[in-house]
Amino acid sequence: MYKVYRGDSCDFYKRHRDEVKGKAKLIYLDPPYNSKRNRGARKYYNDSNMLWSLFISNIINYSYEMLRDDGFLAISINQTELFNLKGIVDEYFGEENFIGLFPVKIRHKERQLMINATFHDVYEYLLIYRKNKQQRFICENKPANLEKFCYKITILDRNCRKEEINGKQVEIYDAGMYKITKEEPSEDNLRRYIIAGKLKTANWSGEWFENNLRALGNDKLVKVYGLENEGLGYRWFQTQNDKRVSGVYFQSTLCAGRPILPTNDLDYTEIVPNIYKEGGEGCDFKDSKKPEKLLEWIISITTNKDDLVIDLFGGSGTTIDVCIKNSRDCIIVEKHLEPYNIIKRRIENIIKDCNKKIEIEYLNV
Ligand SMILES: C[S@@+](CC[C@H](N)C(=O)[O-])C[C@H]1O[C@@H](n2cnc3c(N)ncnc32)[C@H](O)[C@@H]1O
Repeated sequence: MYKVYRGDSCDFYKRHRDEVKGKAKLIYLDPPYNSKRNRGARKYYNDSNMLWSLFISNIINYSYEMLRDDGFLAISINQTELFNLKGIVDEYFGEENFIGLFPVKIRHKERQLMINATFHDVYEYLLIYRKNKQQRFICENKPANLEKFCYKITILDRNCRKEEINGKQVEIYDAGMYKITKEEPSEDNLRRYIIAGKLKTANWSGEWFENNLRALGNDKLVKVYGLENEGLGYRWFQTQNDKRVSGVYFQSTLCAGRPILPTNDLDYTEIVPNIYKEGGEGCDFKDSKKPEKLLEWIISITTNKDDLVIDLFGGSGTTIDVCIKNSRDCIIVEKHLEPYNIIKRRIENIIKDCNKKIEIEYLNV
């Protein structure tokens, strides 16, 4: 679903509240920065507003209401209102839901064009909030290093003892009822951890073994359900034996990968000089256009396919462009005619390029 609204963002929310309340997975805002400049694309809109704080307060309030409970808010801003903005958003989202400040490098330090300025500012900023503190960024997993996944457990006799130990269902196999072999490393095999040193106290499985399984005696294989929820649904342990005073536990590859966390090291200095070309012919929006790569990154860590993204300050339509190309739904609002026309051209360019039918509605707020 793609909708481009022409009109004021606050009016948009007031008139379409029922349609959008609690629906957006991501709200991206790139409002006028109140930098009191009027060069480039700023001649199409007013970048000086005595009532900026009041205006943004309303926008943040409406954004909060439009977000799903698992949603994110990302706002672009520069130094002029950065600190003021942080206070305003904290009020609506709660300080505890501020995820972080992401400096976005957009200028080369050598390319100093504003010779009257006191210093050469190379950064803009991105503030990211979540509606709910439990919500995490979506991130890729670094796959497990397979080298150590070389243990295979084979059950020879299924007549195990079934018990409940400390709230968990367990199956206990005596010596001779099972076989543990070392094989070629593979995704189907398990990694063995010896429960010694810190693993006895600082690791959930290690501690569970020491408190609940060690006393079962030597040479037992124990399957404990509910200890590896993110992987197999159970975890295997083997108790101590004649050769080894420690117990061991086994990990599957399913829960061995580590998430690769997003960083706040965003550098678009190589892209910005050619940004006028993004979106195709007739879509330049000098000094106000965001790199597609920035939006791609935000969308990738906060949304899944078909989620709804709302942008209340459309500009040249970077957000809807990236949403179309990455199969996210999008509603975009733009007040002024010139940028609104750029958005239309940009979407026509995408349709021409990708040669597929995309249904877009152009509406008045
Ligand atoms: C900084 S630009 C956004 C640029 C955009 N992110 C891009 O990549 O092209 C801000 C846009 O917000 C629009 N705008 C300003 N006030 C608005 C309002 N009250 N409602 C809707 N749009 C508004 C301006 O016309 C301008 O196009």
